[in-house]
Amino acid sequence: MTARVDAPLKVTGQARYGADHWFPDMTYGYLVLSTIAHGRIEAMDVTSAKNAPGVIAVYTPFDPLVLHKPSTFLGETWVPLQDREVAYYGQPIGVVIAETFEQARDAAMLVDATYEVLPAVTSMSEGMATAEDPPPSRFGSQSALELLADGVASIEDAIAASPVVVEATYSTAPQNHAAMEPHSAIATWENGVLTVYSGNQASNLQADELAGALAVDGDRVRAVNPFVGGAFGGKGRTSAPAFLAAAASRALGRPVKAALTREQVFTATAGRASTVQKLTLGADKNGILIAVRHDSWCSTAMDRSFVEPTGQGTSGQYYTTPNLSLSQKIVPLNLPPTTFMRAPGEAPGSFALESAMDELAVALDVDPIELRLRNASTAPIGKDLQWSSKHLDECFRIGADRFGWSERTPGGRTDGDWLVGMGTASALFPAGRFPASVELTLRADGTAVVSTSGADPGTGLLTVLAQVSGESLDIATDRVTPRLGHSTYPAGGFSAGSTGTASAGTAVMVAAAQVIDDLLGLATAPGAPFEGVEASYEGGAVVGGGRTMPFGELLHALGRESLTATGTSAPGEEVTKHSFGSFGAQFCEVRVHRWTREARVTRMLGVFDAGRIINEKTARGQIAGGMIWGVSAALHEALEFEESGRLANGDFAGYLVPVNADIPNVDVEFVHHPDTLHNALGAKGVGEVGIVGMAAAVANAVYNATGIRVRHIPITIEDLL
Ligand code: MOS
Repeated sequence: MTARVDAPLKVTGQARYGADHWFPDMTYGYLVLSTIAHGRIEAMDVTSAKNAPGVIAVYTPFDPLVLHKPSTFLGETWVPLQDREVAYYGQPIGVVIAETFEQARDAAMLVDATYEVLPAVTSMSEGMATAEDPPPSRFGSQSALELLADGVASIEDAIAASPVVVEATYSTAPQNHAAMEPHSAIATWENGVLTVYSGNQASNLQADELAGALAVDGDRVRAVNPFVGGAFGGKGRTSAPAFLAAAASRALGRPVKAALTREQVFTATAGRASTVQKLTLGADKNGILIAVRHDSWCSTAMDRSFVEPTGQGTSGQYYTTPNLSLSQKIVPLNLPPTTFMRAPGEAPGSFALESAMDELAVALDVDPIELRLRNASTAPIGKDLQWSSKHLDECFRIGADRFGWSERTPGGRTDGDWLVGMGTASALFPAGRFPASVELTLRADGTAVVSTSGADPGTGLLTVLAQVSGESLDIATDRVTPRLGHSTYPAGGFSAGSTGTASAGTAVMVAAAQVIDDLLGLATAPGAPFEGVEASYEGGAVVGGGRTMPFGELLHALGRESLTATGTSAPGEEVTKHSFGSFGAQFCEVRVHRWTREARVTRMLGVFDAGRIINEKTARGQIAGGMIWGVSAALHEALEFEESGRLANGDFAGYLVPVNADIPNVDVEFVHHPDTLHNALGAKGVGEVGIVGMAAAVANAVYNATGIRVRHIPITIEDLL
């Protein structure tokens, strides 16, 4: 197994993240955040702040840095300071620039905003009363769907005609990505060219957003970030510090560094929506689904910019049913905005669906795995396109065997003072690709370089690029230098939607075929070493006429330092032929203490069908991280807002995520079925599927251990008293 190529740099502190850069004459920005949930800023007194030691400038909506909302394929991205409206507590409303970070922070505390306060809606329960239809053309907006079998008049009729019906309402808590690296940026302008060092999921996308925001040509903006300390969807869009640093640097003619504090990250960046989901499952006596109804509500920011599509992702894809009804409402709240977070839609959606399936298994007295297999889908509902490959049954079979599922009893078991239960759930995440280009260079020293603008936010993409390049060039991986995170490299996809490997990997294959072709052309040209010879390429060398010349030696002989080709790959005809997804079977064992009622996960196993696994080490890391996050969602993690809209737990003391003691060994297993119907490389995706279903598996295990069905997450001690 190839180790991460960037691991030594990261563990020795040599990897430089955005905020680790330094420039002479650099200034420091500190953001000022709103202290009301809804209203209008009437005035901002910045006199003391401006007079404070070291302060260079104070920007507010009354004296703003002009920024335009950039528009990309993600839609419009919000930019700070352009109006006086406050839509949530903790919204960026100003930035102080000073000679040192401490001076900027001190001065920011002296900025005094006065507000016209307006009524705010800050809780899901309050907002539900005025839920709305999602606005069109937003991610997740197209989530209403009704499909009825011939002769069935309504979903209600289909449910009424079902011999067994399970109906329940589930809810999930809002979350923040809370990536290890807080959002930050350093911006410099040189000869009219802006360079920004800021964590992102695709540097070309960030450069596009910055160019749009600053109204400059794209070729005058460079986004640089070879290392990203976690993203999970939270660095898909450009952050407020990056916009402000870029604009302030232009205004001041000096480099500007702006970094959010940990507390600021929780409100000045977007997080995961709260959801409420009502599930109704109708089945026959054998557990074959007759009707599925999934009504969803999700919180949104007041700008209604993002819809968390909990029904579309789950009920429409997991199981076959002749009657399906999905609805989606949004609940705009005066809380920080919502956005993509690892498995958007699927992560909270699978908690509801996979809990309901467990409830159905209990109602029918059928084994939960058996129930899932009986209803396995061969295609997403409402689509004629079958899954290109789906080995979920194999995942369950292997998982059940390895986990000792046959020892599970419907009432759990006890071990001393511990009530012990097992739970399971299905996982699914659609497999897709973004268009991607990569540049591959063969060098006369016998090494190769592969470059693309995409990002490795910890996913392992850098390592996978080196591996796929090595494989495609038929040379050892360590002879390839992979480069990511620079917007001047060919536009290389987007580290989102679990698409990184499939997108960039296929482009590498195209580039390799091209550079090999070009090499053979040079090798056999008049006057070249293989002139007039039938030459081929193998093992990193040109072979023919009884001669073998490694490409480095050949380039030397040709008097060249290097040879470069670019390869591009994008989704094509395959999307008209099949549906694509990664699948998994989640298992966990939970112990609930008889007296203290604490719940502890003691064993976890996930078995996944994600196509070809290029690097088992990095893929395992992705899946294990997702599974751990699922446990976090189930037992720990929630943003807690006060009625005022102020976040009560904006730090790692109060925003609970599991620590080592909360997580047992995470057992991850892959079934290996390369999916070349999806792309030439055969890889599907591992970034998101690992979190899907895990929270339900935990809740189902809690039920198995205690007989208590908790229909919201996180599950706390109070729920189990
Ligand atoms: Mo990820 S939530 O697709 O950036």
